[in-house]
Amino acid sequence: MSQPFEWQSDYAMGDPEIDAQHRMLFDLANRILTIMDPHQGFGELKAAIQALLDYIQVHFEAEEERMREWGYPELEHHQALHAAIRRDISRLIQESKDLTSLKKDLNFLMTQWVLVHIRKEDCKIGEFCRSQSQNP
Ligand SMILES: [Fe+2]
Repeated sequence: MSQPFEWQSDYAMGDPEIDAQHRMLFDLANRILTIMDPHQGFGELKAAIQALLDYIQVHFEAEEERMREWGYPELEHHQALHAAIRRDISRLIQESKDLTSLKKDLNFLMTQWVLVHIRKEDCKIGEFCRSQSQNP
């Protein structure tokens, strides 16, 4: 059965560790959507979102470390995007009062924010890295 968030090879930014972490984020997002599907509890969904947030924290630190190593010129802008994603997800966990609003906001956050971030912003880091290695 196909998953709602399907990893595709063109999402890869070229660093094996970062790409593995991105695939893990897709897995966690799919797990959350599976919990949302049947009539599971509010608490269980919140716990799964917290697990996603914890993993995002680890992942963002790894990605920011790579950007520093590579001398990525848009590091500060990218860090600000990461901070905004973390803020929005923790706000979602803290402020949603019922399952319906949690599902709606989470779906928006995952599709419009996290996945767009991986496909647009993180791919730019990969392009930068490749351009540097072609012109040493
Ligand atoms: Fe990123």
